[in-house]
Amino acid sequence: MKKKTPALTSGTVPQYIGVDYYPEHWTRERWPLDARLMKEAGFNVVRLAEFAWTFMEPEEGCFDFAWLDEAITHLYKNGISVILGTPTATMPAWLCRKYPEVMRVLESGHREIWGTRKNNCPTNGTYRLLSERITRAMAAHYTANPAVIGWQTDNEFGGQPCYCDTCKVQFQEWLRAKYGTLDNLNKTWGTHFWSHSFREWAEIMIPGELHNPGMWLDYKRFVTWQEVRFQHEQIALVRAGCPEHFITHNCMGLYQNLNYYQLAEELDFVSWDNYPVWGAPDIPYDAAMAADLMRGLKRRNFWIMEQSAGPGGWNTMGRNVRPGELRKVVYQQLAHGADSIVWFRWRTCTAGREQYWHGLLGHDGVPLRRYQEARTTAQEFHKIKTHLAGTTVCPSVGILYDYDSLWAVSNQPGFTGNQYVANVRRYYQALLRAGVNVDLIRPGSDLNAYRLVIMPQQFVLPDTLADQVIAYVAQGGVLLTDFRTGVKDEGGLCYERTLPGKLTDLLGIVIEEYEALDDQMKYAADGVEGFPKALTAIKFADWITAGDAEVLVKYLPWHMQDFAALTRKQHRKGCAYYLGTVFKEESFYDALIGTLLKSARITPLLTPPPGVEVSLREGKTGRLLFLLNHTEEIQRIGIPFAAQDLLTRKKIVERIELEPYGVALLKMG
Ligand code: GAL
Repeated sequence: MKKKTPALTSGTVPQYIGVDYYPEHWTRERWPLDARLMKEAGFNVVRLAEFAWTFMEPEEGCFDFAWLDEAITHLYKNGISVILGTPTATMPAWLCRKYPEVMRVLESGHREIWGTRKNNCPTNGTYRLLSERITRAMAAHYTANPAVIGWQTDNEFGGQPCYCDTCKVQFQEWLRAKYGTLDNLNKTWGTHFWSHSFREWAEIMIPGELHNPGMWLDYKRFVTWQEVRFQHEQIALVRAGCPEHFITHNCMGLYQNLNYYQLAEELDFVSWDNYPVWGAPDIPYDAAMAADLMRGLKRRNFWIMEQSAGPGGWNTMGRNVRPGELRKVVYQQLAHGADSIVWFRWRTCTAGREQYWHGLLGHDGVPLRRYQEARTTAQEFHKIKTHLAGTTVCPSVGILYDYDSLWAVSNQPGFTGNQYVANVRRYYQALLRAGVNVDLIRPGSDLNAYRLVIMPQQFVLPDTLADQVIAYVAQGGVLLTDFRTGVKDEGGLCYERTLPGKLTDLLGIVIEEYEALDDQMKYAADGVEGFPKALTAIKFADWITAGDAEVLVKYLPWHMQDFAALTRKQHRKGCAYYLGTVFKEESFYDALIGTLLKSARITPLLTPPPGVEVSLREGKTGRLLFLLNHTEEIQRIGIPFAAQDLLTRKKIVERIELEPYGVALLKMG
């Protein structure tokens, strides 16, 4: 077959729209109709085969791609390109029967039984060899197939860790490579506590959550390393076999058990699976925040590889998408930097654990309402894609999102209900309500692109990062950081420093004491300088003594009157804020973000009414403002600049009206 132009050129993320498809679930006679309906919908890509190992290798070493070739031919004839998933997330029955050691071992010491998915041991040599063999065979077979444009590694890396002896030895080897000597490891973890020093590498076990915190942190890092290595083995083979194809992986947004920055390093671009929780109508904040993190992994636009298409669930199902909602969630992702959208799934399956996970078509295979809405969306996508090409989100606000701190906080929350992500959300959501875009970025990234940087709960604060934020503020940046920042070093030991440690001069405060507030306890607090009064501090309180920092919110109880809850200090050309508690009132966070934006001289293009989201993409085709109505009421929004709505082709004069779940894409004049 003749080779097509490569789908990926350096620096660009390809633009496609389509669906996840499982031809192996249906009779061959149905395939031509499916391909035709996809084409009529405007789809030009499908993802295939990520769970089809047993169909491609029905017996060890015997490969059968004829059925897949046939399905691909139907798609290709209808102008549809293909992404192939390496099928290693579910293993054939023969594999486990022949090599039972491939199954993961649970913490209880029991080996898992075959079935379900993602239950292999990630270290097991046999599994890795078999994974390489099917990957190599697929890459060799599809190297010249003009329909194939790219690959997805495995499916949603993650799941439970494995506690087998091979993983334990691998963990010991990984530690030996990292620390060189046991003396070094013992010091880094502080194993003198409870007489836990190690004298032999072989004494080190896989830790549970109550083991040494430094050991736990390293174990979390090791789990990522295992998955990155497994993925690397597949990437190397696909790159060698199919050098013109892109390689991606479908991440899970705010999933917490892997360091996604590291998993993304070798990929051409990141994809993620967006399953917003269909609760009562509200802004799907987490879908926006996850998208911003996914864009931040490589500082590059991304794909949606699975976009929910209807009610989902394995045992019980959730609510259905309402008219306009399926389209709107797609626009939300485009607004945050998605360049391609793939719905999950084409047709609701009649067999297996996901019978309730609804696709664009139901069990009946009839193209009803959800299919029609996807079709409208796909057709619009083709009209706007040239405008979107080469544009991305370019925020002036960055939030440092750190997996080390996330894991360390989850291991020792310090106060009931403390979650790293929940704390990020408080700031993120207030920024979204203010109509301001945000990048979620890796600590250590260049901060100079941002006028405002938020470093939430940087529990693990390496000195290098402390130095970097100090320099950032000195050069004119605005920084907000908060409680539990700077407590620990990278090894998991608490610093021998009075808090906020290295940031003391920068923030102009000293925290000699602090406490967790249980659910019965709260402190009244009052803002000064226009900050809200009558605030309620909950969950945790740093007893902040302001040195040369200004007090912006102070506690009111008699024993707290000398202490601040929120402070600000001008430092050289910039300004650093510190928040030492959680406030019950959402309005506090809106006021805080308002102050920070002002301080950083960031003016939102417009402040949306409640329930409406705005997001800006910009680039060589100009500035494109997305407006998304997440409510079921008509929303009227003032537009203080000249613009044209690319969806209706209408000129916008002063204001725009959005129907329930309506969207607009304004090209700014
Ligand atoms: C995703 C997964 C899909 C499917 C979907 C619905 O997490 O990648 O294969 O299982 O969930 O359960």
